Amino acid sequence: MKVVAFNGSARKEGNTAMLIGIVFEELKKEGIATELVELAGKDMHGCIACYGCFGNQDQRCSVDKDYVNECIGKMLEADGIILGSPTYFSDVTAELKALIDRSGLVAKANADMFSRKVGAAVVAVRRGGSIHAFDTINHFFTISQMIIPGSNYWNMGIGLEKGDVDNDEEGKQTMRVLGQNMAWLLKKLHA
Ligand SMILES: Cc1cc2nc3c(=O)[nH]c(=O)nc-3n(C[C@H](O)[C@H](O)[C@H](O)COP(=O)(O)O)c2cc1C
Repeated sequence: MKVVAFNGSARKEGNTAMLIGIVFEELKKEGIATELVELAGKDMHGCIACYGCFGNQDQRCSVDKDYVNECIGKMLEADGIILGSPTYFSDVTAELKALIDRSGLVAKANADMFSRKVGAAVVAVRRGGSIHAFDTINHFFTISQMIIPGSNYWNMGIGLEKGDVDNDEEGKQTMRVLGQNMAWLLKKLHA
């Protein structure tokens, strides 16, 4: 089994990546393979509403000029998908929203192709707005017929500068429990 995580942050190896890494540690303990995809610096554009995906129905975005189709391919291959983002003005980053909008529409055009994959949100935040970002990600999972494990708090870690989330013990514990629950759910689904 495999879980792929997309880090929507504009900076690599920051707080969001660290939080995802904690979830990964728990998954790896259960023998689940992991892959981190950093969207920082990647060419990611928003949906142009051409609806070409509904005509083509080939599990790809019809706009094949940027990094989105490679991401969609990784999502299709995986059993679990983590969408991670720092909070930017109370929401996910533009790069992650581009992935949500385009992969989400392609999934709709292709009979909910992510249906029953396991999905988890991971959010980094300095102070406020993380719940809204968390909700944005979960809206994508739920309308895609995906299955969401919970944790013992909403999936967020607090920090501003790179590495600050390491001081958020509760946030780190939330990520550990999330990883444990994600692994448990994946094993049940694939038993
Ligand atoms: C453009 C921008 C907008 C931000 N908006 C918020 C915000 O609305 N609320 C907040 O608490 N922090 C906000 N932050 C801070 C980041 O969420 C925080 O530094 C986070 O830990 C960064 O994660 P990263 O290291 O993975 O990039 C913002 C940062 C940037 C660059």
